[in-house]
Amino acid sequence: MDQIRTIKGTHDILPPNSIKWQKLEKIIYQTCKLFSFKEIRTPVFEKTDLFSRSVGELTDIVSKEMYSWEDRDGTNLTLRPELTASVVRSYIQHNLQSHSPIQRLFYIGPIFRRERPQKGRQRQFHQFGVEAFGSDNPEQDAEVISLAWHLLSKLNIIDNITLKINSLGSPECREKYRLALKDYIRPHLSTFSETSNVRFKKNPLRILDSKNANEINILKSAPPISNFYTSEDKNHFKSVLSFLDKMKILYKVRPQLVRGLDYYTKTVFEFTSKDLGAQDAILGGGRYDNLVKTLGGKPTAGIGFAAGMERFLIALESKGFNFENEAPDIYFVCIEKEAIGLTLALTKKLREKDFSVIIDPMRRSMKAQLREANKFGAKIALIIGDSEIKSNSIIIKDLTKNSQKTCPQSELFNFL
Ligand code: HAM
Repeated sequence: MDQIRTIKGTHDILPPNSIKWQKLEKIIYQTCKLFSFKEIRTPVFEKTDLFSRSVGELTDIVSKEMYSWEDRDGTNLTLRPELTASVVRSYIQHNLQSHSPIQRLFYIGPIFRRERPQKGRQRQFHQFGVEAFGSDNPEQDAEVISLAWHLLSKLNIIDNITLKINSLGSPECREKYRLALKDYIRPHLSTFSETSNVRFKKNPLRILDSKNANEINILKSAPPISNFYTSEDKNHFKSVLSFLDKMKILYKVRPQLVRGLDYYTKTVFEFTSKDLGAQDAILGGGRYDNLVKTLGGKPTAGIGFAAGMERFLIALESKGFNFENEAPDIYFVCIEKEAIGLTLALTKKLREKDFSVIIDPMRRSMKAQLREANKFGAKIALIIGDSEIKSNSIIIKDLTKNSQKTCPQSELFNFL
């Protein structure tokens, strides 16, 4: 029979890799605690409308990359291609602003996008993200960015990272800019790629994301969006940058940074890493002050970011991050069949006292079990053989010093 394998662009996370994930998650939880962000978990599938109305019908994500299907009752459903929309849906549904005017939420979970798989790009990947609701003040932008900065510093991968930042201004500013950018590009359009031609019609700002050398060259002289900021847009962005300066968070203003999702207003940012190769965006985010209203809630400002967990791990590995396998405290060597029940009973008690214990369910020889105890890096081996059964004793072998002593089973816990 054909062997069934994972679907293209999806991966199993196996031990010892899964231990790296747990360690990364632990550092994320600790960081979120420092900033008082609380965890939110939402379903992995939602109504398709949620994403088309928020991320945007014309974006690559919605137009090409979503896993969508019609449910048996005719509802269109989609595996979430990002989490901001789901968090906003939940914020509105559960009236979270009534609990507190500021809501600080974070999430870790799988995301699904039908992209061409390559290093750092999967079809099922995982994001860690945060969303802060309730303030349109620039200090909130600075705080969210400083959370990302703190995490990347804590993980020791900040050295090779660049924070790129821009402001997309208010919707009025963007509309004026859209027209001006089209006017600038129009005379060059025949030399632009097919993708850019489609974007020109549907979503011209996305042309700024072009990777084509000719287009990049032409776009260098395009008018910057800052020419179209309102004074409120200008002041907001200026304050965000000055707060980052105060916190000694280094950034580069990139007028071409537009991001691939439609809901952004004002601040947008991306952290890129030299350790990642072609897919170098490790984290991206921005402000979305109109999204809660667009999805049917009371007008509420919001800002957040999401980071690719797999990309974190690539960056960490290139730094030689120490993800040691956790060794068990005790390997319980049981050589006699009659002692299996006793071994299990003692093991249960040991675990109740928080010792991590391994037993050998294969009933191998003492030599084989001890070899495995050393392989796992266990600190202690407990041994019960024929004479220990008869004398109610147990051998305690210190595997780090290779010394051993025998004690009555009743004294085992005191000894340990
Ligand atoms: P995004 O830029 O689409 O933003 O994704 C955020 C991060 O997810 C990227 O920087 C990258 O690290 C990772 N990522 C994206 N696609 C893939 C993929 N196919 N494979 C592996 N990693 C990937 C968002 O999703 C927004 N919801 C971020 C946000 C939150 N904005 C405001 N709040």
